[in-house]
Amino acid sequence: MKETVLKKFEEIFGDTDGVSVYFAPGRVNMIGEHTDYNGGHVFPCALTIGTYAAARKRNDDKLFLYSMNFDSLGVIKSTIKDLKPEKEAEWTNYPKGVMWAFEKRGFKLPCGLDVVLYGNIPNGSGLSSSASLEVLTGFMLRDLFGFEVSNIDLALIGQYSENNFNGMNCGIMDQFASAMGKKDNAIFLNTADLSYEYAPLVLKGAKIVVTNSNVKHKLTDSSYNTRRSECEQALKELQTKVDVQTLGDLTEKEFEAHKSAIKDDARLRRAKHAVYENQRTIRAVEALKNNDVELFGKLMNESHVSLRDDYEVSCSEIDILVEEAWKIDGVIGSRITGAGFGGCTVSIVKDEAVEEFKNRLSAAYEERVGKKADFYVVEIGDGPCKL
Ligand code: GLA
Repeated sequence: MKETVLKKFEEIFGDTDGVSVYFAPGRVNMIGEHTDYNGGHVFPCALTIGTYAAARKRNDDKLFLYSMNFDSLGVIKSTIKDLKPEKEAEWTNYPKGVMWAFEKRGFKLPCGLDVVLYGNIPNGSGLSSSASLEVLTGFMLRDLFGFEVSNIDLALIGQYSENNFNGMNCGIMDQFASAMGKKDNAIFLNTADLSYEYAPLVLKGAKIVVTNSNVKHKLTDSSYNTRRSECEQALKELQTKVDVQTLGDLTEKEFEAHKSAIKDDARLRRAKHAVYENQRTIRAVEALKNNDVELFGKLMNESHVSLRDDYEVSCSEIDILVEEAWKIDGVIGSRITGAGFGGCTVSIVKDEAVEEFKNRLSAAYEERVGKKADFYVVEIGDGPCKL
């Protein structure tokens, strides 16, 4: 991949003198969905696919950004002065947002850059192509300009830029998973205080399989922001009865005792999901530590039902993939992963059932949806690096 981006860099910018190449991964979340902006726990892992950049400092303040994924847009030109989101800036609003967020933290960019990017995460698949681009940009700026920030800062800067420059009120999970990824481990993160621990996720006799529905529904960002404000509203209602800072502070029992404070059925179900999913995530990691993969899988299935019925972020195409998966012997668990409204499912599948899983899901998906599903057997990778 390094050679590919370097070759493109040379083609576009003439030579590769003084160019550095960087990588930051995407992520898949095993369990703990829509809990990260509710002070709950998440359990994602970094992938070995992600985004690559070849970059070089310029002698002026210009930004020349080119993505091999958006070839037809050519080099998108701007400057480091007056960074603001613009429709014509297309995908470059992500790296520019990160530059802007660095400046907000008092890190002044000393000069412009020439950059060529390439990502091998399918866009809109729910595997965090945007978070990987944000973390990659932060990592690259840190290396090129010597900014003193930790990898957790890179995650926070990425999230800040996405919230305030790109208008998506995401939580911290994706950027954290990308910035803090560790080979063969998932990250058990408490989003209330960013305490975390790594948990080995090498399954004996089973694989983690991501299935891409190749569906991306419009309005994902606005529906996501709506879910977030519904939870905030429900929390406010609960706070009239019980002293909590976040929905993640509540056990299921406490929630049931006080839920009558929530005056709207949709809000009640959103909050219920956030509370139960958080507790489910804690239990799932416990199960994994006890080598009880069957229980982990059962909790994944419950997570799907809750996301489908209470949080309402699934869609018919994804439900078909999950229901077909549940029918197969050798599937330990299967659920929607990521923000939802399309994207991917994540499944734990016994080694001997992986081929059958792919064949049966492909056939059923084509027949019932009329579309092709893509499969990806997950390798859990490290966080960002210079290549
Ligand atoms: C998106 C967001 C994350 C998280 C998930 C849902 O991926 O970026 O912060 O909220 O959705 O779990």
